[in-house]
Amino acid sequence: MLGGGNPAVIPKIMNIFREELQALIDHENINQHLGYYSSPQGDAPFIDALVNFLNERYPWNLSGKNIALTNGSQQSFFYLFNLFAGKMPDGKQKKILFPLSPEYIGYMDLGLSDDMFASCKPDIKYLGKQQFKYHINFNELTIDDHIAAICVSRPTNPTGNVIANEELQKLEKLSQQNNIPLIIDNAYGLPFPGAIYTNAELHWHDNIILGMSLSKLGLPGVRTGIVIAHENIINAISQLNGITCLAPNNIGAGILTRLLHDRRIIDLRENIIRPFYQQKMQRALALAQTTFKDLPVYIHKPEGAFFLWLWCKDLSITSKALYKKLKARKVFVIPGEDFFIDIDPSWQHQYQCLRLNYALSENQLERGINIIAEEIRKHLKE
Ligand SMILES: Cc1ncc(COP(=O)(O)O)c(C=O)c1O
Repeated sequence: MLGGGNPAVIPKIMNIFREELQALIDHENINQHLGYYSSPQGDAPFIDALVNFLNERYPWNLSGKNIALTNGSQQSFFYLFNLFAGKMPDGKQKKILFPLSPEYIGYMDLGLSDDMFASCKPDIKYLGKQQFKYHINFNELTIDDHIAAICVSRPTNPTGNVIANEELQKLEKLSQQNNIPLIIDNAYGLPFPGAIYTNAELHWHDNIILGMSLSKLGLPGVRTGIVIAHENIINAISQLNGITCLAPNNIGAGILTRLLHDRRIIDLRENIIRPFYQQKMQRALALAQTTFKDLPVYIHKPEGAFFLWLWCKDLSITSKALYKKLKARKVFVIPGEDFFIDIDPSWQHQYQCLRLNYALSENQLERGINIIAEEIRKHLKE
């Protein structure tokens, strides 16, 4: 199983979450916590703790009015995309622009109306040692008045890319010049979970909407997303929560509040979570480089998240067909096609990529990569 986006279950982290859950249960306020809806904006003690935690680290000057919780960041993006894009009262069709394709597959079906997304082919830079990196092609990026917002995941699912600081600054500038928000999906990034292995700066100001999540910390089951934005947007998110679910889940917030208060979350990130994923990334990369060394397979430089993105050049079949062949041999990966949302179907690159999740068993990863190499070898162009 090298498909899916599940994070690893890291025993040390799970023990800490279980202790925090137990402390929540034992607390005198547990009846209040379980027995009442939180406000539609989300659990207030958690939001306060997060505001203090973030203001201590970043010069953002946040207040409680800048943060809302959702039932997972998937829901945050559903709200945000449909708030900004789709059919407008004046009949105009507005779109969300993904400036760097391939992008997170989970965005693809979030639009309540058709034709809600636009995206841009990347520049591909070869890096040596069978690696490459996608960059934003700013020459091709057109922002006209159909574009309602720009959105990037950073680190990026599926590629493990981390858009460079300079690229992000250019996007910030473009969004400000065009008076549209820049949505940064920070599900894997800093300050937590910290599955990021480059020196990426994190910015926020009134024109940026930052999405975060507790999932990749190891808590996908508690369904907790975080939106950090201008208070008008937070008001809209709160109202959407009120309409769709009355109030977001408060269990994840309850588990995390003390870890934010006493800053232990930083210790967990630095000493457990990041080293865990970084080591897995290094082993996965070394394994892929060795196994594919005599094949025309290139690996996207893994800078964050927990995915290897393979570009299998010279395949005689599409990556979807390759995926089926792998599935028949019980190796589950995700074919690349679907991550290229709204990209010209004649661009062959999109049919040559696979995404592998390396967060899970290393043994399975090794067996899987060997089978992938065998299948690629069988299906190379003459
Ligand atoms: C880039 C990215 N954004 C958002 C999500 C949604 O995560 P969740 O709804 O669990 O917070 C995922 C899940 O895999 C993701 O990879």
